[in-house]
Amino acid sequence: MAAAPPLYSVVLLVCLMGFASAGDLNKDLEITWGGDRAKLLNAGNTLTLSLDKGSGSGFRSRNQYLFGKINMQIKLVPGNSAGTVAAYYLRSDESKWDEIDFEFLGNLSGEPYIVHTNIFTQGKGDREQQFYLWFDPTADFHTYSFLWNPQTIILYVDGTPIREFKNKESKGIPFPKSHPMRLQSSLWNADDWATRGGRVKTDWTQAPFTAAYRNFNADRACIWSALGSSSCSKGSSKNDSWLSQQLDSAGRQRLKWVQRNYMVYNYCTDSKRFSHGLPLECSV
Ligand SMILES: *[C@@H]1O[C@H](CO)[C@@H](O)[C@H](O)[C@H]1NC(C)=O
Ligand SMILES: *[C@@H]1O[C@H](CO)[C@@H](O)[C@H](O)[C@H]1NC(C)=O
Repeated sequence: MAAAPPLYSVVLLVCLMGFASAGDLNKDLEITWGGDRAKLLNAGNTLTLSLDKGSGSGFRSRNQYLFGKINMQIKLVPGNSAGTVAAYYLRSDESKWDEIDFEFLGNLSGEPYIVHTNIFTQGKGDREQQFYLWFDPTADFHTYSFLWNPQTIILYVDGTPIREFKNKESKGIPFPKSHPMRLQSSLWNADDWATRGGRVKTDWTQAPFTAAYRNFNADRACIWSALGSSSCSKGSSKNDSWLSQQLDSAGRQRLKWVQRNYMVYNYCTDSKRFSHGLPLECSV
């Protein structure tokens, strides 16, 4: 009798792991630059990007999406990663593009990464928010997600919302909803600004710097086709509640917890920078 519960949980764990490792990343992602600095390993289960003095590297999704809930697990550059930036973002193609950004700013060994976020609409960003994380993002893989639907954009870390950008078009604030975006990621050198505002430089004796990615998931997303229409895959669950999902009260509590304890910078409170008035979305 006493042995039954542990056995049951072992079986369950095996099933979950089998499901999670099913993805061959090559189906969904393509390497875009950096030559063999970008690699698919373990039969396509893991993708690594690296950076050396010659170049960084990057990949993008094969599909473009018009709305989606997109997840990926990332393990950031360990050790002395100062000066390096791993960008992980959705971006559209037009000259006045839309973009939703996570950028992971490296640091000296033992010093904290910063998660730099921004949202561009019609080619204009200037909406930076920065956060520390509540764990070491180089010790293991963690899940970084975008929820993008017609009502809202939410960025999540391990399922915890860190930032929300609501659709406030009715108040005259542009919201990305007409142009499909592609997931992109790159690892590059930004030691002119990334670590302590550019004061700490990349230590090239530590190169190559490597970040690893796995478990890309866009099962709940609307895939854009060349014919200019989009079809929403509902995955195996046939559950499209993500398309109207918003933060519930537990989610809002979590968001407040992150903003109270881990936020480093918020453009909405930078009245020095916006001396002629904070952006409209900060107050409506
Ligand atoms: C790096 O570490 C320093 C010292 O702890 C900290 O002030 C800074 O915010 C950290 N992150 C970056 C990206 O500079
Ligand atoms: C659909 O998914 C959401 C979470 O994304 C969940 O809360 C809801 O209960 C699900 N609905 C059905 C019918 O499975």
